[in-house]
Amino acid sequence: MLRKTTAWTGLVILLGTAAALGHGDTVPQSVDTAGLPDLPEEMAAENPWRDADSNTLFKAVEVGAKGYNSNCARCHGLEAISGGLAPDLRYLEASDYGDEWYLDRILHGYEQNGAVKMPPFEGILNQEAIWAIRTYVETRPDDQEIAENAAKLAEMRDKLAAVKDDQPAAIALADEIASAGQGFEALSGAPRAITPFDEAAYLLSTQPPHVSAALETLQAAAD
Ligand code: HEC
Repeated sequence: MLRKTTAWTGLVILLGTAAALGHGDTVPQSVDTAGLPDLPEEMAAENPWRDADSNTLFKAVEVGAKGYNSNCARCHGLEAISGGLAPDLRYLEASDYGDEWYLDRILHGYEQNGAVKMPPFEGILNQEAIWAIRTYVETRPDDQEIAENAAKLAEMRDKLAAVKDDQPAAIALADEIASAGQGFEALSGAPRAITPFDEAAYLLSTQPPHVSAALETLQAAAD
């Protein structure tokens, strides 16, 4: 009985996927963009959040990371670090030229000799999701540089871990953690790189603060 149910569920998933994409790949997922400022209906030609204030920028990175993980990571690599299947999006220039290329690919996808190499996301992702994903990829720091700072990350993690049950003390660490993240450059040339230090500091500064998420962010990056 159990086997039968499992097989049936598997078949439904398989058929649903095949119908949605036309071949056996994962279905593109819409992205919840709640919390981001609404953009005008007409598609922007350039990333509207490239020079946004910190709150908008971090929100865009947060939403963009989710959108990226559910729609792009399987080809373009986890944390936007390409394993070679598809181009490494961290290097796509944060400029009007890079944005034009980005929009063309994300809206229309890419076909070669009748085979879908990249599915189109037009009509699946709204404009906010499209630019949030762009903001996430273009603010990626150099993973080598992050790896070289593992000791500093571990130090901040330990400081935060020591006060994790004392919310005001945890929040008070936000500035120190943020300054530890200064000086990193984005691989795309974007005005700002968002490092795990920045993410942790941001998570501590939200209302309500997300202390354990901040700790997990530092922990994951320090490992
Ligand atoms: C099924 C695999 C697959 C998925 C899923 C996928 N892509 Fe791609 N993508 C590719 C391949 C392959 C290329 C290279 C096509 C080419 O030669 O231009 C590409 C190219 C691109 C380019 C051009 C990069 C460059 O440097 O030329 C961008 C931008 C891009 N993808 C963005 C995305 C985003 C954003 C998502 C998720 C919303 C996504 N892709 C999902 C496979 C994929």
